[in-house]
Amino acid sequence: HFPRKVRIVEVGARDGLQNESVPVATATKLELIRRLSDSGLAHVEAASFVSPRWVPQMADHREIMLALRDSSAESPTTMSTTTKSATTYSALTPNMKGLEAALECGVREVAVFGSASESFSQRNINCSIAESLERFAPVVEHALKAGVRVRGYVSCVLGCPYEGEIAPAEVAAVARELKAMGCYEVSLGDTIGVGTPLKAKHMLEQVSREVPITQLAAHFHDTYGQALANLYAVLEEGIAVIDSSVAGLGGCPYAKGASGNVASEDVLYLLEGMGIETGVDLAALARTGDWISRELGRPNGSRVGQALMAS
Ligand code: HMG
Ligand code: MG
Repeated sequence: HFPRKVRIVEVGARDGLQNESVPVATATKLELIRRLSDSGLAHVEAASFVSPRWVPQMADHREIMLALRDSSAESPTTMSTTTKSATTYSALTPNMKGLEAALECGVREVAVFGSASESFSQRNINCSIAESLERFAPVVEHALKAGVRVRGYVSCVLGCPYEGEIAPAEVAAVARELKAMGCYEVSLGDTIGVGTPLKAKHMLEQVSREVPITQLAAHFHDTYGQALANLYAVLEEGIAVIDSSVAGLGGCPYAKGASGNVASEDVLYLLEGMGIETGVDLAALARTGDWISRELGRPNGSRVGQALMAS
């Protein structure tokens, strides 16, 4: 049942950097994004059009997306050297204000982000789950009218930092609404990395009754060291889109203790070992992970990255 190919959505420049306490220069972010694209990643999440008061690290969203639009227009720099195809750069847009700014910057793909937990929804986007869905509907509608694709996120799919266990039925209900609104894909976030493989499978079984598995992605954080095991479990169920972060950068400012997303290098090593194609150059990505870890003055959060750079 394992897929033959997996699409990696690289979220390090967004989910990763949003949680860095030291300011990261816009030029460094752009260099990171260029290197990620050059390693063959076809989808790089690059910014969030959110309030700079809530997430200061994403305050340069306009500069980032305008620079990527301009470099795409000039073409070669954003053509991945491995796949020779253009990279999609996406951005988070929680409301109309965010979407309008994103459209002004020529963004071609956006994401709305909801939660399966009421408390997390309040803390993260300052509204209830029902209010968030009401807010997302016009965002998705306007984006689609403008020819922009929309991805949906559901947070806390395997647990919440404030509520603990979350029922899979809650996840399925939010995922169903996001798909019904017009999201082409729904990414299931284990925001605080508390899941284990059989729970991940069970959750996915319930969600895939509402949204076909071909329209679902796994977005797992590695806080408890379970992310690769959980990914193996959902790959076996047919998941073929994985969100990951170079060097395991990341966390979430509204989920204390949420360490990085599963490292992209670790995911690639797992997939290569299983004979699953990704189109990404692992050695190039490991060099990028090593470079950004040094830039940020933090240890490399990828075990595979560490091993490759030491050998
Ligand atoms: P709010 O305070 O309820 O919004 O925040 P508001 O509409 O009342 O506006 C308040 C102020 O924010 C106003 O400014 C607005 O202009 C401004 P003021 O007049 O006070 O100067 N504002 C904005 N500024 C820039 N861009 C915007 C925007 N909207 C309003 N789009 C809001 C609501 C959603 C804006 C806020 O809660 C927010 O920005 N939250 C961001 C939270 C966030 O980014 N979290 C991290 C991403 S989610 C995540 O990481 C999980 C994920 O990885 C999956 C997983 O792991 O589970 C996706
Ligand atoms: Mg996340």
